[in-house]
Amino acid sequence: QITPVILSGGSGTRLWPLSRKSYPKQFARLIGEESLFQSCARRLSGEGADGLRFTPPAIVTGADFRFIVTEQLQEVGVDPGPVVIEPEAKNTAPAVLAAALHAQAQDPEAVLLVAPSDHLIPDAAAFRAAVAQGMQAVTEGRLVTFGIRPDRPETGYGYLHLAQAPDGSGGPVPLEAFVEKPALAEAERMLADGAYRWNAGIFLFAAKDIVAAFDRHAPAIVAPVRAALEAAQHDLGFLRLAPGPWARLPDDSIDYAVMEKAEALSVVPFDGAWSDLGSWEAVLRETAPEAGGTATSGSALAIDCRNTLLRSEDPEVELVGIGLDGIFAVAMPDAVLVARLDRAQDVKQAVTALKARG
Ligand code: GDD
Ligand code: MG
Repeated sequence: QITPVILSGGSGTRLWPLSRKSYPKQFARLIGEESLFQSCARRLSGEGADGLRFTPPAIVTGADFRFIVTEQLQEVGVDPGPVVIEPEAKNTAPAVLAAALHAQAQDPEAVLLVAPSDHLIPDAAAFRAAVAQGMQAVTEGRLVTFGIRPDRPETGYGYLHLAQAPDGSGGPVPLEAFVEKPALAEAERMLADGAYRWNAGIFLFAAKDIVAAFDRHAPAIVAPVRAALEAAQHDLGFLRLAPGPWARLPDDSIDYAVMEKAEALSVVPFDGAWSDLGSWEAVLRETAPEAGGTATSGSALAIDCRNTLLRSEDPEVELVGIGLDGIFAVAMPDAVLVARLDRAQDVKQAVTALKARG
């Protein structure tokens, strides 16, 4: 059986003003009826034809989100496993290690599937089949990643250099190297090379193997996380990590801290649809996939627009665009964002600037 570990502590600032510090994008209904977090939890629960058995998911998140987490799980009928509360966000390396140590203490042979809560994976069955393919490699002590076929020189992702071409069976392939967030020139080279896949940001491994990899490659993270777990408080079913040791942790992602350095990595090719809904541009691409398409939602209205996203998240706010091209606009009850699509990554800057203004 597999223990899902759902990472749900990111703040998703590039999707402001829908994504807020107090209500980040993974909990918002960005596409469809469920939040991305709910779809993720459902994808990793229940028994399917694939024979996979999942325990209730462990969730790692911030204190502000703990009740959103339990409420949203209840809405979709998924029993929560341990809800681990971080005193502050320290990026994914400490979050994953805390979940791994906790799971290992319950079951020394625990197998974890670490998943971000903010991805769009429409074909859950295909994804679960890929997970099943990775299990053999896990029993051999390998750390399994999932590889997406790249279609652009994206610099916000990790790249997986496959040691050999996949044989078409869908089984795992050993990894030559893991390159996190390359510069554009390097991303272009890797895209042209053909032997690379994007890292989906989803990992499958035995708890003991990832703990050993942290011991070896990121020892500075291990002692504070162990201390934060040992002094953790149980509070209404939440596991609150101790703030003192946690404050000593560096901010680091599992990709930089461990994956770039680890040996014994394998990749399972995943050819189903996958999207990291990281920016409004990505949301447009998912909701209007045809080139030059326009997407509207809520009470928004587009007249003679192309390549445009208009969303009104407030039924009281009419949002109308006329003759727009390459623009997105998002209206909330208390904030409106209008920008060029090719500046979608810069929404982060707006959030920083607004915070500085107070
Ligand atoms: N609990 C917790 N605490 N979760 C966190 C924290 C934290 O401090 N920081 C981030 N997360 C969650 C985010 O909410 C998201 O679901 C997931 O962890 C990944 O973090 P991101 O910050 O979105 O990572 P990224 O997109 O820059 O890069 C990762 O994902 C890419 C694919 O989407 C890497 O794994 C890349 O290699 C990968 O290509
Ligand atoms: Mg991401």
